[in-house]
Amino acid sequence: MALSEQMNFTEEEIQTEADRLFTKLKGAGWDHSDCEIIAPLTLEINQIKKKKNAVILAHSYVTPDIIFGVSDYSGDSLGLSNEAAKTSADIIVFSGVVFMAETAKILSPDKTVLIPSKEAGCSLADAITAEDMRQLRDQYPGIPIVAYVNTTAEVKAEADVCVTSANVERIVEKLEGDTIVFVPDKNMGKYLSRTSSKKVITYDGTCIVHDNIQPDSLDIQRNRFGEDLVILAHSECPPDILDRVDVVEGTTGMQRYIIEHPEKKKIMLATECGLADRFSVEFPDREFIGSCVMCPYMKKNELRNILQVLRDPRPDQIINLDEEIRVKAKRSLDKMFELGS
Ligand code: 13P
Ligand code: SF4
Repeated sequence: MALSEQMNFTEEEIQTEADRLFTKLKGAGWDHSDCEIIAPLTLEINQIKKKKNAVILAHSYVTPDIIFGVSDYSGDSLGLSNEAAKTSADIIVFSGVVFMAETAKILSPDKTVLIPSKEAGCSLADAITAEDMRQLRDQYPGIPIVAYVNTTAEVKAEADVCVTSANVERIVEKLEGDTIVFVPDKNMGKYLSRTSSKKVITYDGTCIVHDNIQPDSLDIQRNRFGEDLVILAHSECPPDILDRVDVVEGTTGMQRYIIEHPEKKKIMLATECGLADRFSVEFPDREFIGSCVMCPYMKKNELRNILQVLRDPRPDQIINLDEEIRVKAKRSLDKMFELGS
């Protein structure tokens, strides 16, 4: 049966929901008629969520209909980890990518953690295995191995500490010794080599989104707007991008910068294209220029598969972890919370 055939809302309920959605989504360029189309889906998702005591945690790179229509919390990897650790819900639907849902399960093993699409991978998480980590340990004895949170549970289990884009610099400075191994993001590792006091041994992974932002796309906007433009870039971008921008931050750092600089009206975001939609809704008095690079993994999240997973999850949509790996991986995340505060 098609999802729409199972829904039973009155015309009035649909119009009220469409009005609610439109107050937010108009900021991302949606029409009222678009909101009317998705209203039965958001109504049903929110209804089932309540009935089953479920929460939807959404990364900022998923589409605005999910962020503003059905999510209970949306933010960056660190914020999502914090929410996953403290939620009192029985079910967490993770509208993000698999490594994030695994992180939620590591932190909240008693909850049912669901992922709408198991195909929501990540090129960084795919770049390194637990065996690679053990080889690094042999190659660099006594040197702390710092794992970006964009890694599998097995890789986290082999690390000394995890970090996210929001806390990496602070945590690396607090580690003992003058050298660290940073995995798997080569670009973030290079950025750290420039900004931290430590020697950073990097690995060879990249984010297919941030690594593909083109320097020309920044130069064009800079020529067009001159001094009026501020360019913010994610620290997963390569050096030739970071050399061209005004501010380097993670997702939350960008948001903080925008809040703290109300005078900046034209803002280019050198990061996943979806963030410009989110910020356009949240900061309607600013003009955002996004990148043209989209994360195909994040976009596996849709209202339809969120509804399906909430109603009746398939076995492949339920996150299960080996308990020994979970406990070891949690140590690296706990260390992150300890050093990051
Ligand atoms: P943050 O949201 O933690 O900045 O990470 C960006 C990212 O690429 C997530 O996959
Ligand atoms: Fe992975 Fe990059 Fe997509 Fe984030 S944006 S999930 S780092 S591929």
